[in-house]
Amino acid sequence: MDRIRIIGGQPLEGSIPISGAKNAALPLMIASILTRETLTLHNVPRLSDVRLLMRILGNHGVDAAISGKRLGQSEESGETITLSARDIVDTTAPYELVSRMRASFWVIAPMLARMGEARVSLPGGCAIGTRPVDLLLMALEKLGAEIEIDAGYVVAKAPKGLKGGHIVFPKVTVGGTHIALMAASLADGTTIIDNAAQEPEVTDLAECLIKMGARIEGAGTAQIVIEGVARLDGAHHTVLPDRIETGTYAMAVAMTGGNVLLENARPDLLQAALDVLVQSGTTITSEAGGIRVMRTGGDILPVDVATAPFPGFPTDLQAQFMALMTRAHGPSKIHETIFENRFMHVQELARLGAQIRLDGDIAYVQGKSRLKGAPVMATDLRASVSLVIAALAAEGTTLVNRVYHLDRGFEALEKKLGRCGASIERLSGEG
Ligand code: UD1
Repeated sequence: MDRIRIIGGQPLEGSIPISGAKNAALPLMIASILTRETLTLHNVPRLSDVRLLMRILGNHGVDAAISGKRLGQSEESGETITLSARDIVDTTAPYELVSRMRASFWVIAPMLARMGEARVSLPGGCAIGTRPVDLLLMALEKLGAEIEIDAGYVVAKAPKGLKGGHIVFPKVTVGGTHIALMAASLADGTTIIDNAAQEPEVTDLAECLIKMGARIEGAGTAQIVIEGVARLDGAHHTVLPDRIETGTYAMAVAMTGGNVLLENARPDLLQAALDVLVQSGTTITSEAGGIRVMRTGGDILPVDVATAPFPGFPTDLQAQFMALMTRAHGPSKIHETIFENRFMHVQELARLGAQIRLDGDIAYVQGKSRLKGAPVMATDLRASVSLVIAALAAEGTTLVNRVYHLDRGFEALEKKLGRCGASIERLSGEG
């Protein structure tokens, strides 16, 4: 198993290209099931989750291919993937695959909408709390699906096709909004989604569906209205930049000090997180080529944060921000409101010398910690990268184990940080 070795203490200087968003690429790839025609996605990040989803879609009969680099494309530009779901050969998504990537559960919606049936394994345990699918199933039922649970599988049927309906989410859910959008696009009649997720990845999916012929209004607001159509066509779509990768590197620069241009990054995708970084003493400027992040001397100031659905502070940046706050010039409070049990990074940050006290869904970070390198590991993607951030500012050497978590969501992490002067290296194999 690969590990990453980091020797801390170097400021970051230079530029980092931001990849396409994983959390947009995955639902966009799944949307290919909705049409017999070819969906071409550009700027897809090179990540293991994308590869795994290609395999999962392949199981259903989707031909997925990565096109070669085109003339004029730099090494950093994302991949172009073509997906053709001409014939769906299997409407079952097995446990072995769905349990490895929770988002693959979302195939249930396009499969049901196009084929009238789907049999998808429940995702199973997850490292960040129970993460149920009740709201996703409720949304499909509102569109006329009959749903049964059979031996760990959700069996969804709509033999006469889905019908438009009124879906009111009692809680904002990104996955729920994604699947409601996909299912309603091919349903008969009008669907209204209330309390819809407003995350930019939802808007990106809606924009792609519109290019495919869907009639959708209001994506990016709390109410989305969809007029179902009989069929969808192929389309070309470019995946939007990854706001979580952007915020992660911005926090890394805030942590180490330095001056880095985050190329292709869009401030409107993470304004709440950028505002918090400014409050913490970081200088953020918007430039034609992206976002410039600077901290040249001065203390890191403590800031209290509560995670919230978009446009609030994203839960996917909570662990990284906590790493930053361990070095702040005073105590801070971090409130996780989206996921229970999303504090696995706390114990590992403590191994580096951080002092953090947990009380339910609030973490009290003492600040002013002198971090010292140590072997660490984490059990999810965002937790792992928070350890990388801490290690960049720690004294001495940190070995981050279980790097496969990072490979799920961060393209070429060690290369991107290394070119800005970080001492970071991947060590392959057992050790
Ligand atoms: C997506 C993101 C993830 C991010 C999360 C919140 C992807 C691939 N993943 O996950 O990175 O952290 O949004 O921004 O895009 N819930 C229920 N019942 C349901 C569904 C959700 O109770 O049926 C709850 C969840 O437990 C959680 C909250 O709703 O407390 C939000 O979850 P949701 O937005 O659905 O997260 P995901 O779409 O799974």
